[in-house]
Amino acid sequence: MQLTMDGHGARHAQLARALRAAIHDGRLRSGARLPASRDMAMQLRVSRNTVIAAYEQLRVEGYVHARVGSGTYVSEVDVARSPPVRVAPVAAPTRFVARMRAIDFRILRRSGDGIRWDMQLGEPVTDPALFTAWRRTLARAALYADPRYPHSAGLPALREALAEYLARRRGVDTSPNEIVIVSGTQQGIGLVARVLVEERDRVALEEPHYFGARMALQAHGARLSGVPVDADGLVVERLPARAPRLVCVTPAHQFPLGATMSLARRQALLDYAASRRCWIVEDDYDSEFRYDSQPLPALRSLDRGDRVIHIGTFSKTLFPGLRLGYVVVPRGLARDFVTTKLLHDFGGPTIEQAAMARFIADGSFERHVRKAGSALRARREVVLAGLATQAAGCVDVVGAHAGMHVTAWLRGFDRERCDALIELARTRGLGLQSIAPHYLRPPRRSGLLLGYAGLSVRELEAAMEIFGQCVRELAPR
Ligand SMILES: Cc1ncc(COP(=O)(O)O)c(C=O)c1O
Repeated sequence: MQLTMDGHGARHAQLARALRAAIHDGRLRSGARLPASRDMAMQLRVSRNTVIAAYEQLRVEGYVHARVGSGTYVSEVDVARSPPVRVAPVAAPTRFVARMRAIDFRILRRSGDGIRWDMQLGEPVTDPALFTAWRRTLARAALYADPRYPHSAGLPALREALAEYLARRRGVDTSPNEIVIVSGTQQGIGLVARVLVEERDRVALEEPHYFGARMALQAHGARLSGVPVDADGLVVERLPARAPRLVCVTPAHQFPLGATMSLARRQALLDYAASRRCWIVEDDYDSEFRYDSQPLPALRSLDRGDRVIHIGTFSKTLFPGLRLGYVVVPRGLARDFVTTKLLHDFGGPTIEQAAMARFIADGSFERHVRKAGSALRARREVVLAGLATQAAGCVDVVGAHAGMHVTAWLRGFDRERCDALIELARTRGLGLQSIAPHYLRPPRRSGLLLGYAGLSVRELEAAMEIFGQCVRELAPR
């Protein structure tokens, strides 16, 4: 009998599912004897314990029974009364689900098979030494972990380490009581939405902007307004006269175009928020990586009105699979943020938080950031040199002074030609992404976001060569 394991979850659970399906669809009839566990294990190339566990699970569920000394047999199962679960479409049960279903999630799709050089955003710098150090710290943290529910704001040791780090590196004068540990920026934005935004409230986003924030706020029911950005960041004068509830910005490194918000704009934005009593979300996602200058202190460091929610993440500095970040919340709302987090999940995982506290306190974190920064600098140079030589005259590059990606505007490429370029590159093993999905309204120019963190210098050299070939083949003459 052919049994197909579906590859999801533990092996014994996969085998139990496959056997259950065979009983339901009649391939295994009642009274049939299942192969001996040793034979089944050999046939499926799994351990005998896996088979024994799967048989035992089915026995408990009543699908099979064991006869001592004889084997395991399929029981009398009323297949008609227990059909396999069929999933029928269900109308959206809530407005939230209706809004969520309307969101285009294609932007989150990975490039897929056949992509040898993927210039995907959000890829971390992979460094085996980081994983060795992290594994060691994690093991030690596990040994000493408090098994009780953690504080829902996050482990005090991590909040203390972060308060010190933020004061030193970002100029943010905060106390551990104003910090909430979250599972990344995305959860931070979710908390902000719950605490500060009602359904149908207006929220201003940079145009273009970070899609993660847009999707969360859209699903929450906010009405979104795009505000243009230029070389000084968000154009504050273009914020609506009637204040939105929230303004979301990336002042250190505008996502995705790369501008640093000037001091004058920062002050103007804070004045706007203070006079209209609206809130500002500062998404400080990659300020650690700058190549030409020091980062300006965070917006929160200039805030005298308690209006700024500062969100940071370890997704860029370490890796996104960690799912760890932090929110520096307004002092007057600290309790509300912590209680909302408590209702959400009773606090984040203790061991990872304890490990992170130690990683920061013993200097490992900043050591890695320095090392990753020099790796990124070298990678960025290859990309910039590649664009200048391989795609000369075809692209305008912006936003290269910081972060992990650059924006390449394509000269003379309309949307169709840009899509054709992405497709041609894909057939040659190069993964590219259009900037268009990062806009609320289609942009006037076509452009690409080229992430370079996840590829080595050698790989980037090859990627740039392919990029140049594809661009030259498709560039209008
Ligand atoms: C602008 C911006 N903010 C935040 C993040 C990180 O989000 P998270 O912390 O949820 O992984 C990213 C990741 O790509 C980003 O581009």
